[in-house]
Amino acid sequence: MLAITITDQSEPIQLAEKPIPTPNKDQALIKLKASALNRRDQWIRQGMYPGIQFGTTLGSDGAGIVEAVGDDANKGLIGKEVMINPNMNWGEDPAVQSSDYHIAGMPTDGTLAEYIVVDVNQLVAKPSYLSWEEAAALPLGGLTAYRACFHHGQIKFGKNVLISGVGGGVAQFAFQFALAVGANVYVTSGSEDKREKCLQMGAKGAFDYKSETWFKEALKETGGFDTVIDSAGGDQVNTFIKIMKPAGTIVFYGATNGTPKNLDMFRMFWNQITLQGSTMGNDIEFCEMVSFVDQHQIKPIVDSLFDLKDAHEAFDKIKNGVFGKVVMKNS
Ligand SMILES: NC(=O)c1ccc[n+]([C@@H]2O[C@H](COP(=O)([O-])OP(=O)(O)OC[C@H]3O[C@@H](n4cnc5c(N)ncnc54)[C@H](OP(=O)(O)O)[C@@H]3O)[C@@H](O)[C@H]2O)c1
Repeated sequence: MLAITITDQSEPIQLAEKPIPTPNKDQALIKLKASALNRRDQWIRQGMYPGIQFGTTLGSDGAGIVEAVGDDANKGLIGKEVMINPNMNWGEDPAVQSSDYHIAGMPTDGTLAEYIVVDVNQLVAKPSYLSWEEAAALPLGGLTAYRACFHHGQIKFGKNVLISGVGGGVAQFAFQFALAVGANVYVTSGSEDKREKCLQMGAKGAFDYKSETWFKEALKETGGFDTVIDSAGGDQVNTFIKIMKPAGTIVFYGATNGTPKNLDMFRMFWNQITLQGSTMGNDIEFCEMVSFVDQHQIKPIVDSLFDLKDAHEAFDKIKNGVFGKVVMKNS
């Protein structure tokens, strides 16, 4: 089978021929119809991810059809259309992942391939209204956004919510999820085009984080936010602290722009502000997220589609900025 692997060559991602894996006991072999890229795959390509093992098939997002199962698995799964939960060994505690937790695509083989083997308990039925491309776009970004929005962010009807850097692969889901529950959703983006698209989709306001005064406009327009969802981090965290309502929560699941040089702890404690980290989500949240998406008929935004063989172009696309997910399809 064809697979996109990470190598020690000058161009680290390479198309490789690998044997089709065999499912053991409680595992299933999935013929992947589509897979999707995440920022994580690009971090791995750049050598900026812990524990990189050369030869691993990349990719955390995928959807396909069960082709075979191991001896102890339910044979009735064969032929089912499924999405793959990218969590590996979340563990017993719903609050936090176990010490041997990892995500599909490093160090175990991932979804940028024609086939993958996973435990059957990582399979969730694909909602029938989603295309293969849309289903493949959902898992990692959808799960991360779901936990950030609802477990930590407590986003509900009528709350003021800011989704920062809405063009991000996770942020687009946070935006759609917050809209679905009837929150007053505002966004920031460095792209006028993305701000305009979000206003058309139902955002109440859209601000340019590159402007020095965006937060003043935001505060004037909203009276402050109950929840901010962010992955950029950096000094902007202090800006968020200024525009929170008392007892508001800033949830961050990334720190693309690094750690803030200072933290306005005085304003934080006086206003009872929470700064809350979040990573992925547990296996129950994965199932809840897929049901939530199904219930609200949410369609992931697909920026562009590539053939698996055109992985370099697809990776370059996420490097250069997208609106929605970059998806790879298998013929
Ligand atoms: N902890 C986890 O479980 C988890 C899961 C997924 C991702 N992550 C991390 O979260 C980060 C984003 O991941 P992603 O997959 O969503 O990446 P992505 O699709 O590459 O998102 C990048 C986005 O960041 C936004 N951005 C850039 N500078 C910004 C700023 N100063 N303020 C606000 N937004 C800014 C841009 O939004 P605009 O285009 O709108 O300007 C850009 O589109 C990465 O660091 C990733 O490693 C963590």
